[in-house]
This record gives sequence, structure tokens and C-alpha cells, in this order.
Amino acid sequence: MTEKFSGFTIFGHRGARGHAPENTLLALDTGIRLGADWLEFDVQLHPCGALLLFHDLTLERTTDGRGALADCDFATLRRLDAGAGQQIPTLEEALDLIEQRAGVNIELKTANGTGEAVAAVLRRYLAAGWPAERFLVSSFHLPELWEFRQAAPEIPVAVLLAGVPLDFAGCATELQAAAVHLSAEFADPRLIADAKTHGRRVHVYTVNDPAQMRALAALGVDGVFTDYPERAKAAFA
Ligand code: G3P
Ligand code: MG
Repeated sequence: MTEKFSGFTIFGHRGARGHAPENTLLALDTGIRLGADWLEFDVQLHPCGALLLFHDLTLERTTDGRGALADCDFATLRRLDAGAGQQIPTLEEALDLIEQRAGVNIELKTANGTGEAVAAVLRRYLAAGWPAERFLVSSFHLPELWEFRQAAPEIPVAVLLAGVPLDFAGCATELQAAAVHLSAEFADPRLIADAKTHGRRVHVYTVNDPAQMRALAALGVDGVFTDYPERAKAAFA
């Protein structure tokens, strides 16, 4: 679909969580430095309207805060330590840091209007000159992804799967998705073949072992999400 996708594609997972606190600006910058072609990060819509880079629904694992992210006010969230003194970033801060140095895979984590809110932000970046193909918006929550698609039909989407559906990659056809993002444990050859037959790219998460990366490439997989972009870089050098 774009030159950004030529060859085997390395997605820095949550930035580069093997090297820096996940979903922080430091992790995104580290991912770029270690050779990631694309950066994946998780986005949630906070009740105040802010779009935040955050994986869990609760704060304990990755910050010094407690309780649900949605129950914590924005000012308090921004004072938390997300690791190595990093702040929980907003989507706009992430995009301004990346500055088109890598492709941007935004995973919609929440399903409360996140798709429409992300579409509104990305439209501003498209208007400022970012090519639509620099973005890839994905979700496990396919109705939310559908809402995104309606709001920003020019931006490519990817369906996330953590299983093998009866109709294999059929949901990707309905969503006219550019790619299917598969969990490594469900990277079934029939599912991969079905996606490829219909012209979709297949990207597998989360793969940190270079031997597994090469085995997936041999199955026709087009890229992997990895916590260690430099390992993928070396595996395909
Ligand atoms: O987008 C790929 C991968 O990040 C999906 O799973 O739980 O790491 O967000 P998770
Ligand atoms: Mg993710």
C-alpha cells in the first residue's frame, strides 16, 4: 500500500518496551533509534477527552499511581511517574515527537468513542501534511475500529486477532482492512494464507526471538511487533 511497507516490517512494540518504559515518549524515541520502521502504541480515551498512551485499564503495573485510569483526573495522571521519570503522553505529544520519522500504528484500547476521537486528531495531522499511509489504526474491538473507519476512511486500518475465527480473515474484508495483526500463538498458516489471498498484510505480535521472526517470514508473514527492534533488524540484515 505504501513504500513504508516494502519488505519485512519491524514494529516497535509499545515503542520499544524491551529498552524503555512502555508507551512513553522515551520508548518511542528509543524504538526509532533502534531501527523500527513503525511504532505501535496503545491509546485510551480518558473521560476528560484526552487521548492517552496507556495499555492497562489500571495504573499499578506501569506507574506509581493506583486504581483505574478513568477514575484519576488528568492533572493527577500527568504527575505520575510512568517509569524513568516519564509522563503518560498524549496522542498529540507522541505524534509531535515522531514527526514522521516512523510509521504510526495506533491501537485503540478503549471503546467509548476512542475511534472518533483519534480520527479527529489524525485529520488535523493529515491537514498539516502527514500522508494517510503513515498511519495504521488497529483494534481488537472491531465495532470501535468500524467507527474509526467511518470517521476517517482514508486512513488504513488493521484488525487485531487473538484467536482463529471460523471465517479466518473474513472480518478484515468487511472492514476493508489493509492488514491483519495476529497473536503469535494463533499465527495459523490457514489464517495467514487467507489474509494474503485477499491482499492483506499480516503482522504478528509480540515476537522477540529472531529464530521465530525468520520462521514467521518463511510462512509469508510481512512483519512483527517486537519489544527489541534491533533484534529484528539484525535477523533480516
Ligand atoms: O498491537 C499489537 C499488540 O500490541 C496487541 O496486544 O496487549 O500488546 O496491546 P497488546
Ligand atoms: Mg498494543
